[in-house]
Amino acid sequence: MSGGAGADLVTELRDLAVVIARDAAALAGEMQLAGLTIDTKSSDTDLVTTADRAVEAVIRERLADARPHDAILGEEQGQHHDAPDGAVRWVIDPIDGTTNYVYRHPSWSVSIAAEMEGRAVAGAVHDPTHGQTFAAATGHGATCNGETIRLGEAAPLGRVLMATGFGYDPERRRAQAEVMVGVLPHIRDIRRMGSAAVDLCSVALGRVDAFYEHGLAPWDLAAGALIASEAGAKVADVYGGPVVAGGHVLAAHPDRWDEVAELLLRSGA
Ligand code: IPD
Ligand code: CA
Repeated sequence: MSGGAGADLVTELRDLAVVIARDAAALAGEMQLAGLTIDTKSSDTDLVTTADRAVEAVIRERLADARPHDAILGEEQGQHHDAPDGAVRWVIDPIDGTTNYVYRHPSWSVSIAAEMEGRAVAGAVHDPTHGQTFAAATGHGATCNGETIRLGEAAPLGRVLMATGFGYDPERRRAQAEVMVGVLPHIRDIRRMGSAAVDLCSVALGRVDAFYEHGLAPWDLAAGALIASEAGAKVADVYGGPVVAGGHVLAAHPDRWDEVAELLLRSGA
């Protein structure tokens, strides 16, 4: 457990994240049915909807009611004030997988994590299409719908099913696709499902054997990376160092992680 975060506190933060993530996803679902206004952000491919903004506002309100002194970083509104030393900072993605949400594909989620001293200590990812709530708190393992989830045996490299994703900048996308050209002949297959938060939970669940992406934002990663690592995955940058926003993230079984990282590096990651 990271310094200062007691067992009661991290489980309390996790449980709060679970309740708010579920309610937020219900609101997103209602707004999806009612009709959305769709806009773009960093590029023509980077979508944002009225629901992304409304859901983030509601999550912020709920967190502020429950824990008025915490700081909050969210995808749509950024961060309003710094977290003082020892304080909690919430990192929220109101809708991760906005493209899926807009096109009504499965695999979008609400992701809420609590950080202390720069490290995620609790988090929840709710995936309404599959009716799955993933949650974790440091030192308390990971759960899916309340049941403990734990990685099984590592698949050999040739049988690794790898989830990945692509950013919104055209040049970054080209580089990301080129890495997959090197990787694909050596593994079972790749999947691009469209929500990094769900992809990381899929590693925790054993629904994929690895997840790799470059350039994710903190809100895409914070809760899912904790859930994967509490389920027993190694989650690090491709050189084995800590994951930092905007860098590489590779989540995989600790017994296969090195081989997957080497393959990614050989492929230009
Ligand atoms: C995106 C999703 C996607 C990943 C992108 C993210 P958004 O988040 O997580 O799977 O490949 O890099 O930006 O934009 O839908 O919140
Ligand atoms: Ca996101």
